Amino acid sequence: MKYVWLRIRPFGRLLKALHGFFYNFKRFYSYAGWRSNMKDVEQRNYTAVKIYHSLEKSMSFKNRRVGSGWSDAYALLDLLRVAHRFDELGYHDKAACKLLSRFIELEGNSQTKNASYIRGELSKLNFASLEEHGVKTYSAADFHRGVLKSPEAFFLSRYSLREFKGENVSEELIKRAISLAMKSPSVCNRQAWHVYHTTESLPKEAALKYQAGNRGFGERIPNLMVVTTDLKAFMPGQEHYQHWIDGGLFSMSLIYALHSLGVASCCLNWSQSPANDKLLRSSVNIKNNHTVVMMLAVGWPEEVNNVCVSARRPLDEIYTCLEVRAGGCK
Ligand SMILES: Cc1cc2nc3c(=O)[nH]c(=O)nc-3n(C[C@H](O)[C@H](O)[C@H](O)COP(=O)(O)O)c2cc1C
Repeated sequence: MKYVWLRIRPFGRLLKALHGFFYNFKRFYSYAGWRSNMKDVEQRNYTAVKIYHSLEKSMSFKNRRVGSGWSDAYALLDLLRVAHRFDELGYHDKAACKLLSRFIELEGNSQTKNASYIRGELSKLNFASLEEHGVKTYSAADFHRGVLKSPEAFFLSRYSLREFKGENVSEELIKRAISLAMKSPSVCNRQAWHVYHTTESLPKEAALKYQAGNRGFGERIPNLMVVTTDLKAFMPGQEHYQHWIDGGLFSMSLIYALHSLGVASCCLNWSQSPANDKLLRSSVNIKNNHTVVMMLAVGWPEEVNNVCVSARRPLDEIYTCLEVRAGGCK
């Protein structure tokens, strides 16, 4: 009997996986950007940054092909016209406007009929970012400002901490860490992240109730963050997993940003069953279109702490030189 059960159990797991895939598909169907509803300020802004980033990239090449980029420029103009009709503007609406105005003034572009037409159309719009957009020169010395004296001291001094000093981390410091983490790369610079944060007992309890990995320390977590990404930013086809990827990158940056400020954290897993994901959503104010990537327990370390050693595998177990297979490069 035990043997039969062992043979059947993996199929039960597969069914659970199927249930999870279906739940994720349903969420993607309901909230992702595939409907291209440009009246929706968020969806329009994700589309705008996708297009203007492509122009930005072409502008950054040292040997830019003169005459390229006009189809993107017109697509952007169309979006800006839509934005102009609505009261609610987003960051990328304004950034796109500024970027387009820079694109048409590039050498080789500014004297063209296209530029003159777009210039006229842009003058009818009543919004533009005051910030710099487009390209800038950036020296090796600029890059080197990020070189750490001892990378090992920084990276190897981070440990997940589960018991913290009984003192909250200030909202100001939390926001500083989030701002630093926002320098994370994201697909087409879409920055589809959204962070929920609290130090209040009730929302902490409500959120942690469905998270199994905080047993034994959850009730003493000073600051709780829920890192999410906005499904509206992503399209079907190639991007249905992108929200997890961009969310994961952002989460890691956030953890390192906190670490750089002396604040400790512990990731709290949200690879959850559909039922628990729904329960969390019914308990706290996480928007339906926001996918929960993970929670983060955050707080100050005590003078003396206990941490898990969590030793790392030898490098040669995770490193392989990439090579072309015989007959593989056609
Ligand atoms: C996505 C993710 C989810 C995690 N979830 C939990 C969790 O639910 N509870 C917990 O105590 N630790 C959790 N951890 C922390 C890991 O156990 C920890 O990062 C790992 O053991 C390595 O230890 P270190 O972070 O101290 O280097 C999680 C880590 C990651 C990256």
